[in-house]
Amino acid sequence: MARIGALAIAVAVLATAETAVNPVATTCCNALSRNPVLHDKVLYPNSSAYEDRIKDYYAANAALRPWCMVLPLTSEETSETMRVITANKCPFGMRGGGHMVFAGSSSTDHGVTIDLGYMNYTTYDPRTKLAYVRPGGTWSEVYGTLGPHNVTVTGARSNLVGVGGFLLGGGNSLHAAAYGWACQNVENFKVVLANGSIINANRSHNPDLWLGLRGGSANLGLVTRFDMRTIPEPLTWGGGRFWAYNMSDAVVEATVKFTDTIEEHVDCSVEAMFGWDPTNTQQPGGMYAVASLDNVRNEAYPKGLRDFLVIGGVYDDFLESRTVLDRTTLGNGVDGLQDVWVTGSYNNDIRILRYGLKRFEELVQQLKDQIGYENDERLGALLQYQPLTEPMIRNGDGPSVLGLENYFVKAGKNSAGMLSTVLLQAAKPAHLAALERIGHEFQRDMDEHATELGVNWGWKYLNYADYSEGPIARYGEESVEFLRKVAKRYDPYGVFQNLRQTGFKIPM
Ligand SMILES: Cc1cc2nc3c(=O)[nH]c(=O)nc-3n(C[C@H](O)[C@H](O)[C@H](O)COP(=O)(O)OP(=O)(O)OC[C@H]3O[C@@H](n4cnc5c(N)ncnc54)[C@H](O)[C@@H]3O)c2cc1C
Ligand SMILES: *[C@@H]1O[C@H](CO)[C@@H](O)[C@H](O)[C@H]1NC(C)=O
Ligand SMILES: *[C@@H]1O[C@H](CO)[C@@H](O)[C@H](O)[C@H]1NC(C)=O
Ligand SMILES: *[C@@H]1O[C@H](CO)[C@@H](O)[C@H](O)[C@H]1NC(C)=O
Ligand SMILES: *[C@@H]1O[C@H](CO)[C@@H](O)[C@H](O)[C@H]1NC(C)=O
Ligand SMILES: *[C@@H]1O[C@H](CO)[C@@H](O)[C@H](O)[C@H]1NC(C)=O
Ligand SMILES: *[C@@H]1O[C@H](CO)[C@@H](O)[C@H](O)[C@H]1NC(C)=O
Repeated sequence: MARIGALAIAVAVLATAETAVNPVATTCCNALSRNPVLHDKVLYPNSSAYEDRIKDYYAANAALRPWCMVLPLTSEETSETMRVITANKCPFGMRGGGHMVFAGSSSTDHGVTIDLGYMNYTTYDPRTKLAYVRPGGTWSEVYGTLGPHNVTVTGARSNLVGVGGFLLGGGNSLHAAAYGWACQNVENFKVVLANGSIINANRSHNPDLWLGLRGGSANLGLVTRFDMRTIPEPLTWGGGRFWAYNMSDAVVEATVKFTDTIEEHVDCSVEAMFGWDPTNTQQPGGMYAVASLDNVRNEAYPKGLRDFLVIGGVYDDFLESRTVLDRTTLGNGVDGLQDVWVTGSYNNDIRILRYGLKRFEELVQQLKDQIGYENDERLGALLQYQPLTEPMIRNGDGPSVLGLENYFVKAGKNSAGMLSTVLLQAAKPAHLAALERIGHEFQRDMDEHATELGVNWGWKYLNYADYSEGPIARYGEESVEFLRKVAKRYDPYGVFQNLRQTGFKIPM
């Protein structure tokens, strides 16, 4: 008895000193690194390559440290990885480009991270006009490869964003009104299932999996290739225009009107933003308004954007014709910081957008009072409004499981919605808890006020959602029931629901 007690204490001491003593960690990482296919694909915390992958996360708070990482280069290696993980019941995480911001979105400190970051290239077939996009790269690689072929695809507005998560969670692009959500542009997914099988999912083969992956995120398999329809216009006109903050109401009014009349200008795109950047000393209090204004048919100063182009008080302007690659370099944020994002969606009703702006000003004051720029030189905040419109569903190539149709119906004929997101940043890990508290309070107030006005959709965009926001449940019961059925068919033992530690699950 005494000997067992002493042993238990010894193990406990060792376990705190050295995670490798955790027997599950040892079993899983050994099984991977002894596997003949994977032996040189496994990274341990004692290597500089492991540290490089940790540093490569967009948000420092998302960069959880796994027992070990495995970085497959092919579908076959990914399949072998899944076989080992499933056979040994290893808890695991799945990483694409590593751009989702909350802790536990794409890495885990209670398991193995499957990191697809080395599967990071694109090919193009002029005969099929399809782009074959690998999951672990960034949109800059994708746009850069496709540009010389004079085509582009519905990728992110910031080209450092990763491919995999973006395409599986929806994907809101410059081309959204003209071509739909990015997931509705994937004609075929090459997928590694829980048991290691490699299959295609498209309209004619495994169509239920094909549909489920259009919004189902990481719940059904590891996607190793996305075959996307291409767009025959690699140039876009537009960019960002900045206004003094006191022009914000005019920007909100123009955004509401633009969204209501979207049918007249689906080739135009608008994203309205309001920011606090204490380093922007030219603007009073570091407050400013900015809009992303674009025409994806490369038409300069198009009629559809007129209401924005006449707003005075412009202090900076980056509107011009350029490639999608160059255009999307403008939106790249600062990485390596603490990030918190919260999101909601509402009727396109000016009352809730004005409320959001006023509430955002309070949020900035809270950041000043509770953290203070003098204590954190990277402190900052941004409120984003993005149209949610019917062309974004209709102009995709086939359906998705995002479930937005229900919300348009609820809001009435010719209705539109608005996606609202707040992005908070700070440099110091010690400030993360305050960012979370302030962000969650903002979102709670926004949703409550919208509910009082009768304009709260309750839909949450998965790619912007915080871990607390449960986006898949908001797709609606029909989508959720469908996803349960597809998961049961392709992952009968629930590997992605139970062993997976990262991302959002299907509510059961
Ligand atoms: C600066 C910035 C700009 C952004 N701009 C846009 C924008 O313009 N439009 C927009 O819609 N969104 C945008 N986003 C949000 C973006 O869509 C999400 O962060 C998205 O998750 C990024 O994909 P990723 O592969 O980098 O993510 P990761 O963090 O690697 O993964 C996100 C989720 O997807 C899963 N996943 C990733 N790859 C695969 C795969 N191959 N198979 C199965 N599951 C996988 C992961 O397990 C995880 O749950 C932006 C984000 C940032 C930080
Ligand atoms: C790193 O750790 C692994 C697993 O514990 C071990 O097999 C390997 O030899 C170590 N490498 C170095 C360089 O210490
Ligand atoms: C792309 O993957 C290769 C390995 O296939 C890797 O060497 C390279 O660093 C990756 N590129 C980026 C930008 O991560
Ligand atoms: C792309 O377009 C340019 C300009 O119109 C043209 O010169 C070039 O040949 C095109 N390239 C391809 C691969 O079609
Ligand atoms: C659909 O999947 C089948 C089966 O793997 C494959 O033969 C076919 O080429 C795929 N279709 C497309 C459009 O990718
Ligand atoms: C708006 O703010 C700018 C400075 O940022 C100032 O020059 C301008 O006079 C203000 N306009 C109004 C109407 O207050
Ligand atoms: C793997 O899972 C799929 C989906 O459940 C199934 O169709 C297939 O037969 C399985 N393959 C093996 C080798 O068990």
